Amino acid sequence: MITHKQFDNGFKYIEIENNQAEAKIALQGAHLFHYKVKDKPSLLWLSEAAYFEEGKAIRGGIPVCFPWFGKNKDNPSLPQHGFARTQVWTVVLEEETGEGTTHIRLQLKPNAYTLAQWAYLFDVTLDITIGHKLSIALSVTNTDTKPFEISTALHTYFNVSNIDNISIKGLDNKAYYDALEEKTSIQHGDIFIQEEVDRVYSYPSETITLFDGDAKVNLQQEGSNSLVVWNPWIEKSKQMSDMTEDGYRTMVCLETSNAREDSRVLKPNESHVLKAVVSQEIDTTVKY
Ligand code: BG6
Repeated sequence: MITHKQFDNGFKYIEIENNQAEAKIALQGAHLFHYKVKDKPSLLWLSEAAYFEEGKAIRGGIPVCFPWFGKNKDNPSLPQHGFARTQVWTVVLEEETGEGTTHIRLQLKPNAYTLAQWAYLFDVTLDITIGHKLSIALSVTNTDTKPFEISTALHTYFNVSNIDNISIKGLDNKAYYDALEEKTSIQHGDIFIQEEVDRVYSYPSETITLFDGDAKVNLQQEGSNSLVVWNPWIEKSKQMSDMTEDGYRTMVCLETSNAREDSRVLKPNESHVLKAVVSQEIDTTVKY
């Protein structure tokens, strides 16, 4: 079942329920902010202090970063992570598939606001498929007459039982840019998070695994040679009005991206697809 809903302030979202899973997608940002497979814990973290307001990005779920990731290289005063997450997208397709999943396609087209920040014509769609697995694919086509460069991310916030319990596999021996130290290092072994982490890993394994006690989440990526790992920890969280004091303890961001050197240049009529597929293997006794 696909239902169009809105909060009291008029903020619109789609609610999805099928025999496999349930989900909620805000039209602003094409932002998936809830996804739960039947009999499994909610996959995506959502801040208890998140804003559902026009012009503010939702803290949690899967923000879509486009057309730039992080600060804009040419004009750092422009909104961090681009305009896609605060623009209202249009639903262009909603269907229940033969496999029992639900497929939603949202589209973002240029307008006066986007052109004032980034003077290019583009066609961007986000395909979200809700089932036992979650599939999310960002397709960008250059509809302009000149090439453009994009850096993007599916900025996924994963729910974890406690940050002390997790490890991340699939990045051993990979080079990463540490945005806090502003230098490049090599990862040795699995990742454990015990402090603020803000890194862009290059050439991650095709599947990244997040272990949380007996629970396991697999993140498969396509069209991506970079993965961002982020947790704001204590001090950074205090600077964010949409984070609660201990929110950082129950989340980690693993962001399928085209960030930094993995930015892509698209010529006129060229397209690029950035895709993440997430599946959970969960011991249902784990409490979230
Ligand atoms: C991460 C960046 O992807 O997003 C961090 O690497 C940033 O540097 C974080 O702090 C959150 O960004 P924002 O704009 O949602 O607060």
